[in-house]
Amino acid sequence: MLENLRTLGRVIRTLATKDPVTRVRRFYEIQSPDVEFAARDTRYMNVGWWEDGVTSLDVAGEALAMKLADAAGFKPDDTVLDVGFGYGDQDFAWLRDRRVAKVYGINVTPRHVEQAQQRAAREGLTEQTDFRLGTATALPFEDGTFDRVVALESAFHFYPRSAFFAEAFRVLKPGGTLATADIIPLSGDTARASISSGPLSFVKFSIPDENWHDRRAYGEQLAAAGFAKPEVHSIQERTWEGWRVFQSTRPSDPAFRAAADPSSVKGMANHWRDEELIKKEIALLDYVIAVAHKP
Ligand SMILES: C[S@@+](CC[C@H](N)C(=O)[O-])C[C@H]1O[C@@H](n2cnc3c(N)ncnc32)[C@H](O)[C@@H]1O
Repeated sequence: MLENLRTLGRVIRTLATKDPVTRVRRFYEIQSPDVEFAARDTRYMNVGWWEDGVTSLDVAGEALAMKLADAAGFKPDDTVLDVGFGYGDQDFAWLRDRRVAKVYGINVTPRHVEQAQQRAAREGLTEQTDFRLGTATALPFEDGTFDRVVALESAFHFYPRSAFFAEAFRVLKPGGTLATADIIPLSGDTARASISSGPLSFVKFSIPDENWHDRRAYGEQLAAAGFAKPEVHSIQERTWEGWRVFQSTRPSDPAFRAAADPSSVKGMANHWRDEELIKKEIALLDYVIAVAHKP
């Protein structure tokens, strides 16, 4: 009871926070790594890439990370910067499967940084990783440092995203690539504040107006930062609906019911109850992979 009241207090404080970067950090600090989102063996916090038949966010979250690596053109021996890395699952996967030389990470949430650092220490990967506290719009690196800069479902938070594009351009080597997996509206005319369902409430309080652009404007902002040939592809069909089906059926999943306390199961069921509204609002959102090159 007391813990519920404390959480409610933190939620109110977070929603009342004016500064967008602090608000996002507080949002991620409220959540416990053991219950947040839905992965079990990993701690992916993205909506995932849902191939037919996939029923786990561990698989879908990692599949999206690998799509981003493919889009960025990861090569063995690349030096990669991952901005907004969550708990770093994708970074360990890229080291393992793509054999990149080293992954640097920047994240605004202290707990995410600490947990990624601790995992790197446990797995003997402190030489190949460098996870730091910081913000996307003031990257603590010299010009021309990285072969690839990536942001996996995080750039919609950055304040503003266009400043991150300029920073990514600066820290990339000539010939380097920026790739993002990102959330934007399908139409720039959709009012951000009109999205009201619980599962999509993050749109209202964690995406600033400055980042609420459609695909065309996204490409234009990449070009304005100096990038050549920006491409912004929709992957809407493999993301939102798979995530919605997965999350909304979780309260009836026997494994979830056995692991979670009854109030969480009930809360989750309530959160996802309004299927028609959630479907309608998901249909307003795009999910894109954007790729751009520094000349
Ligand atoms: C939705 S999570 C995605 C995490 C991870 N990429 C994944 O796919 O699991 C967004 C992440 O972006 C981080 N973040 C938000 N705003 C940031 C900022 N301004 N600078 C750096 N990281 C930020 C959050 O702390 C969080 O770790």
